[in-house]
Amino acid sequence: MSVESTVRPVTTLRLTEMKQRGEKIAMLTSYDFSMAKIVDNAGIDVILVGDSAANVMAGYESTLPITLDAMIYHARAVVRGVKRALVVVDLPFGTYQGNSKTALDSAIRIMKETEADAIKMEGGEEILESVQRILSAGIPVMGHLGLTPQSIHKFGTYSVRAKEEAEAEKLVRDAHLLEQAGCFAIVLEKIPAALAARVSQELTVPTIGIGAGAGCDGQVLVIHDMLGINKGFSPRFLRRYADLHTVMTDAVSQYVEDVKSLDFPNDKEQY
Ligand code: KIV
Repeated sequence: MSVESTVRPVTTLRLTEMKQRGEKIAMLTSYDFSMAKIVDNAGIDVILVGDSAANVMAGYESTLPITLDAMIYHARAVVRGVKRALVVVDLPFGTYQGNSKTALDSAIRIMKETEADAIKMEGGEEILESVQRILSAGIPVMGHLGLTPQSIHKFGTYSVRAKEEAEAEKLVRDAHLLEQAGCFAIVLEKIPAALAARVSQELTVPTIGIGAGAGCDGQVLVIHDMLGINKGFSPRFLRRYADLHTVMTDAVSQYVEDVKSLDFPNDKEQY
């Protein structure tokens, strides 16, 4: 179903209202104009211009190499394709961990140069000063706890986080700190479902889960994964809604065959 005729932009306030009335929030990533237009028109609530662009758009092993300029390039394209969804942009690695002034400068560049609605940052207490400084400049911030891919070299693995009590308690504390600071939502990535449900119940702001179970207030997936463009990534939490890898491969193979066999273009496909 298309939502083109019923455009009412999603705001951070509307996300809180959705949580209050028990309506789940649907979030997906996008990195370019055409994909964002399709995703927005299909009724998504939040589009994340994730630093997962480093993986699925640029082919890097981790999210660390992507730059602020590259994130701004992707975000500008996405914003041009969106009429309804709230657009959130990841602050990439190295643009906010140093100090709160650098963090604010990075967030301001994103808001000014992309016209997106909000930014997302990974971490809890360690980045709290930066979160507060960005929020006090009037920029909405989405938090991100649990598996935080920008810290992959510290974790050493992409496996489930916060299974032990100490890490789980820190995560709960961090979630409360981010909420008290004024974050409008928090992504919970790859943590036990019971822990994510507890955090979601304790917070008034919505939680958005990825590999964090059904107790979250919303869900997010990377669009390339859920559309089956990317075949090499099959974590347990991922549901594939299409097999675009096969659809696209078949289409390209057919085109190659048609060109080579002189079938394309035919009389009607030329001037
Ligand atoms: O960069 C990203 O796509 C993300 C999601 C996995 C939440 O941060």
